[in-house]
Amino acid sequence: MEKPIFYDMNASSPRRTICSVLRDIYHNSEDKQIKDWAEEATIMAKKMQKKLVEYKTNSSLTKMDRDTILKHVEELGPWYQKINFDGVTTVEHSKSGEKLWEVIKKNYLPENLNNMKILDLGCNAGYFTVQTAIMGAESTGVEIDDKFLEQAKFTKKFFESKLGKVLNVTFMKTDLSDIDYSSIGKFDYIFCLAILYHIGRFKHGIYTENAMKEQEEIVDKLTKISDKILVRTRNLANNDINYYNKIFKRSNFLPTNIIDQGRRTLVLYVNQQR
Ligand SMILES: C[S@@+](CC[C@H](N)C(=O)[O-])C[C@H]1O[C@@H](n2cnc3c(N)ncnc32)[C@H](O)[C@@H]1O
Repeated sequence: MEKPIFYDMNASSPRRTICSVLRDIYHNSEDKQIKDWAEEATIMAKKMQKKLVEYKTNSSLTKMDRDTILKHVEELGPWYQKINFDGVTTVEHSKSGEKLWEVIKKNYLPENLNNMKILDLGCNAGYFTVQTAIMGAESTGVEIDDKFLEQAKFTKKFFESKLGKVLNVTFMKTDLSDIDYSSIGKFDYIFCLAILYHIGRFKHGIYTENAMKEQEEIVDKLTKISDKILVRTRNLANNDINYYNKIFKRSNFLPTNIIDQGRRTLVLYVNQQR
């Protein structure tokens, strides 16, 4: 007698398990009626799985109440980016967050980011990653710190529940020096906001010769995967706009639309060759 086939009904995708049972029935049966039933049941299983995913997505998109927001903002703090979650604000004063976003949106971005890809390096609480996705982009935020990544996940969840739709946002936990930039594709904009001067600081110490070298190597790689790189500098020796002008120029990128913010400067480096 032929050995029975055992299927793992506890598998992570029961639909796939059921479909493989039905596929075996379909292929092993000579009976046309049984073949038809197996085919119909496969279509049904796929439809049921799709409905289940829709149901799960919709139930995670119900609007958050104030107590839930307060609890999360408190538990996930302290925050660096100032974000207003429907009246619950993360911090009183900050160098980053909503105000900075208004400046970026007004001065550097088109009206919408439909079909565009954004890479937000050192994304922190993910405010810019999420806002660019709200404008239509497929956005990726990179962050090294677990605590900030948790904030970023909350930011995404909050805006998804507020807007009632899933946003095209991915967060990657990694040291941005460890990314293989030759294999991550191209981006319409790369955001390097208050981040380039952090590169290499954990390995070599901030502003050391090796850290600066690593920073320059990363900038070279970024210029190969995007024609527009938005930088926010810290205006200290070796990390001011003159320094970045010099290292971006090596790849034929020139500064445009410079906004002096006192201790920081915003500048969009644009590839002159395209
Ligand atoms: C000064 S904050 C700027 C955050 C954000 N870009 C903004 O302008 O609001 C720097 C952020 O980059 C992250 N970071 C620092 N070094 C990093 C690295 N090597 N790789 C990935 N993230 C890093 C920090 O954890 C922090 O969230």
